[in-house]
Amino acid sequence: MKIQGRTFVVSGGASGLGRATVLEVVKAGGNAAILDMNRDAGEALAKEIGSAARFWECDVTDTDNIAACVAGIVSWVKETGAPLGGIVPAAGVGNPALMLDKSLRPLPLTNLDFVLSINLRGTLDLTRQLLPHLAKSPAEGPDGEHGVVVMVASAAAFEGQMGQVSYAASKGAVAAMTLPMARDLSRFGIRVVTVAPSMFESNMTAMLSEKVRTGLKKAMEFPPRPGRPEEFAGLVRHSIENVMLNGVVIRLDGATRMPSKL
Ligand SMILES: NC(=O)c1ccc[n+]([C@@H]2O[C@H](COP(=O)([O-])OP(=O)(O)OC[C@H]3O[C@@H](n4cnc5c(N)ncnc54)[C@H](O)[C@@H]3O)[C@@H](O)[C@H]2O)c1
Repeated sequence: MKIQGRTFVVSGGASGLGRATVLEVVKAGGNAAILDMNRDAGEALAKEIGSAARFWECDVTDTDNIAACVAGIVSWVKETGAPLGGIVPAAGVGNPALMLDKSLRPLPLTNLDFVLSINLRGTLDLTRQLLPHLAKSPAEGPDGEHGVVVMVASAAAFEGQMGQVSYAASKGAVAAMTLPMARDLSRFGIRVVTVAPSMFESNMTAMLSEKVRTGLKKAMEFPPRPGRPEEFAGLVRHSIENVMLNGVVIRLDGATRMPSKL
């Protein structure tokens, strides 16, 4: 899929990996629809970019809110003449909780529901509501491609750590959805790729203690550092541009395998 002259929708686009994706899309000549709950950061980013980006305040757990944003994006696309080219549902949270804590309290279902509602349901709902419009986008290139969905899983889909039962469930589900979604959408010329990053610099990982960061560094092979958001965005760009990438979960981790204990 060509990025130039197309519109890409990025949830969680106001911060971290989503923000880097927005900047990469714009650098490649595309337009970016930034969806996020963080209005200040989203508006500031859209202002910084100018006419190639627009911000919608959106809570991906609220299906009516998504519908309103999708309607807004569809009319923006008509206005700009830059058809939809893809969806990057990157909004996510990592709220940790133990399966059983020291006081023998089991995992609160509120933790499970909260994490799943954003990372899994929010990813799926935004994607499903945009798909009818993506399918109607003009075909691109000799393969007649209509669009690309690039979802975001995590190394926790494969090696969740302590406190990551809910997070691992959400990201494992995103990874598992990749192939069946690609199969469902192949008849429409829409591809599905999932990126599974290890630890990347972002607001999410800025919250980690120095002890956890040092522990994680020990598990890193090469390079022995967290990934940079632009390295994630580079892989998203390649996933959009390379038509043979489909139905696959790509680890982006410098050979890191998350250890049991830090
Ligand atoms: N940073 C990492 O190390 C890492 C590793 C693996 C996977 N990931 C995944 O990458 C994605 C991006 O994370 P990040 O590290 O950039 O974090 P981040 O906190 O910098 O950005 C996440 C963004 O999602 C937004 N968001 C949260 N809940 C939302 C909701 N209900 N509706 C709309 N927007 C909402 C936040 O406002 C924020 O702007 C997430 O899905 C995360 O799980 C991150």
